[in-house]
Amino acid sequence: MDTNALFNIGYGLYVLTTRHDGIDNGCIVNTVLQVTSTPLQIVVSVNKGNYTHELIKASGVFNVSMLTTETPMFVFEHFGFQSGRTTNKFATCEAEHRAVNEVLYVPKYTNAYLACRVSQSIDFGTHTMFVAEVLDAQVLSDKPSVTYDYYQRNIKPQPEINYDDAKNGKRCWVCKVCGYVYEGDELPDDFECPLCKHGKEEFEEIIVETQNVASPKNDNNTKIHETQCIAPLQNNCAMKQINLTENIFYVGVNDRRTELFENHMELPNGVSYNSYLIVDEKVALIDPVEAGFIEEYLFKVKSVLQGRKVDYLIINHDEPDHSSSIAAVIREWPEIQVVGNAKTFAPLEAFYGTIENKKVVAEGETLSLGKHILQFFMVPMVHWPESMVTYEQTSKIVFSNDAFGGFGALNGGIFDDQVNLVFYEDDMRRYYANIVGKVAMQALKAIEKLGGLEINMIAPSHGLVWRTNLAWVLGKYTQWSKQESEEGVVIVYGSLHGNTGVMADIVARGAAEAGIKEVKVYDIAKTEVSFIMSDIWKYKGVIIGACAHYGSMFPNMTLLTHEINEFKPKDKVYGLFGGMSWSGGGVKTLAKCAEEGKWNLVAESVEVKGAPIREEDWDKLYNLGKTVAEAVKG
Ligand code: FEO
Repeated sequence: MDTNALFNIGYGLYVLTTRHDGIDNGCIVNTVLQVTSTPLQIVVSVNKGNYTHELIKASGVFNVSMLTTETPMFVFEHFGFQSGRTTNKFATCEAEHRAVNEVLYVPKYTNAYLACRVSQSIDFGTHTMFVAEVLDAQVLSDKPSVTYDYYQRNIKPQPEINYDDAKNGKRCWVCKVCGYVYEGDELPDDFECPLCKHGKEEFEEIIVETQNVASPKNDNNTKIHETQCIAPLQNNCAMKQINLTENIFYVGVNDRRTELFENHMELPNGVSYNSYLIVDEKVALIDPVEAGFIEEYLFKVKSVLQGRKVDYLIINHDEPDHSSSIAAVIREWPEIQVVGNAKTFAPLEAFYGTIENKKVVAEGETLSLGKHILQFFMVPMVHWPESMVTYEQTSKIVFSNDAFGGFGALNGGIFDDQVNLVFYEDDMRRYYANIVGKVAMQALKAIEKLGGLEINMIAPSHGLVWRTNLAWVLGKYTQWSKQESEEGVVIVYGSLHGNTGVMADIVARGAAEAGIKEVKVYDIAKTEVSFIMSDIWKYKGVIIGACAHYGSMFPNMTLLTHEINEFKPKDKVYGLFGGMSWSGGGVKTLAKCAEEGKWNLVAESVEVKGAPIREEDWDKLYNLGKTVAEAVKG
């Protein structure tokens, strides 16, 4: 027997509602049938496990609301994927939508309802069939009724299977309704999906042939580890909220598991992806988070909203560390309107596909949420061409996205006055130098543009929220954007066997004895370039040493010289040195980079044969450090 034949029965889909002892509840059913016209009677079959079944048994009344083809998925999820035992499905319902039997009907996405009173019930084991007299019937719209087949083909999203769960060599079963993956040799007969509560018949086996199947989530150059985010099963779970104001909430997440930001910058202290929620007559989410944190993120947002939906998703910036969860957010609230500017949507749709419900805003345009008014200002190239900031006029908060951000997860303190800023300054400058530094002039223009606004708080998409030390962060960003270097020397060397490293120490000695107290020496093979760039941004003196390698320079040095010439830090004085090895070419290659980047070389370059064991070499290296140091001191 092929039980799939039963799916070809022309079922409809309905919301079955009831009320008992002051409790309203409802569920989705597909078995409603008119059985007689005189008297007018229908039957409906209901699973005994449903709370609605329990309430109908007690009350003897119910309504059938007939869903249309325009019904969005969230209606099916609302009534079908959660239990009334743990959720009040009618928490925001209006009382005037009660029928003559005092039971609520569903007025939206429906074309008719029947108000009924049970006359008899028939026990079918797992289900009860209620036979009922129709007390009233009303037509609500002329939209066509949805069938089970239409729902399967056009409304229900294809389940997003978490292939990470399906390990090679293990048998896995995926729920065709919601995508939950069960790992095990056999699925128990009484198995119930922990997410959507469907039974074994809705599962099918999946076979994963390779060890490293990419999850659809993992498409944005960030490493998603085995660690699972929180994803509670019950809707009555909630987290305590973090308020910026009474109705503006922090809903960001910490990432301490991604090893490389943008897949090339180390994150020893992690990073935060900040997002903000404004709850008013309309609800707005400002910038989502990196996709690997979607479960935690949605949990936080829903904890605040308590069943309300999000009306607007503001996209200040398209980069995937913020935008990669957009598909999941839209799936959660299908009617959400995505708000961006004229440059936002082409890249966004290139990343994620067509966005149906979008709103394009212009410079200075406002969007009212009720008491809160959002205003949008373009800050192109801080960090990408479409970058903008959102200013909330009532609270006077600037949601600045990458601008004023920093590396470093938020360790309990969300606001600047809850932490020691000393712990964050290096991570902020490293973020600035490597993310914003290349567009320092545009950053300066953005700061000047925001200078015309009255600002109570700066809420970036990475790092601390600034509500107390605004002058401090504005001062730092202005200093870094103007590239006002501090007194100090950065010495970076690349050495095959250590000789160029010894040279670096001699250079450093010359700089220190010339009175420079902040001398930083880095081995390019040991320190990731973003840290070095951060110090180069800070200090005026830069001395680079590279030994020869096949007639060119120590290979790891190539990335640093590329970054210097790409970011073009200003107000610097440079020096060069290195060992010849058997070929020479290290210093010559550095000199070529210096010429291309128009580095301000203030001392004669030093190239040493072999090791720095001769006094004249020692003197040249020492004097290199001393000369650069004197140029730093002016
Ligand atoms: Fe934090 Fe440019 O993205």
